[in-house]
Amino acid sequence: RALAVFVSGGGSNMRAISDACERGEVKGRIAVVVTNAPDCGGARWARDRGIDVLIYPKKKATNEGLSADELVRTLKDERGVDYVLLAGYLRLIPPELCRAYERRMVNIHPALLPAFGGKGMHGENVHKAVLASGVRFTGPTVHFVDEEFDKGKIVAQACVPVLDDDDHFAIAERVLEQEHRLFPSVVAALCDDRVRFREDGVPCIIDR
Ligand code: GRF
Repeated sequence: RALAVFVSGGGSNMRAISDACERGEVKGRIAVVVTNAPDCGGARWARDRGIDVLIYPKKKATNEGLSADELVRTLKDERGVDYVLLAGYLRLIPPELCRAYERRMVNIHPALLPAFGGKGMHGENVHKAVLASGVRFTGPTVHFVDEEFDKGKIVAQACVPVLDDDDHFAIAERVLEQEHRLFPSVVAALCDDRVRFREDGVPCIIDR
């Protein structure tokens, strides 16, 4: 299966997915990377490996990058992308792409949705909010992406404790470690066609 990965940052989740592809655990390959930040670590990592990096959204100053229609056309028609993986992409996803990749686009969020999601909840803000709330558990969520931010159906979650002397850095590290296991396992299930939808639309992963 052909995968498109969207990144804005270091891209450690993308690397975990790439490693799982190389080990044969994910029956797919990263066909293309999309970013709003062409100099971010994830984009550089991809270019170093000869993976094409596309820019979205279009940059007003230089006119570099793709429009929403061009993005959909490129991924779907030109690159034959089967699944879109949002791995720390910090810009809005155009509704055209949500429609084109309904049930074929997933995002990773570093907290247990539906708590700690929505506007402004990204990066360290999430872990700070977790800490301030006093919850004793947190962890990553992988969910399908629809037109409403952080509201798509949950595919998988993992749970880690919040310890008494944690700061937000410690929580982030513990969650990220689980992200690197959880996200590849969901991508593996997608590529194996092991994700089923219950009648109410809730996705379930069938074990191998
Ligand atoms: C992760 O914490 C992910 O949950 C969030 O953005 C971060 C991306 O990290 N959506 P990386 O770029 O994969 O290292």
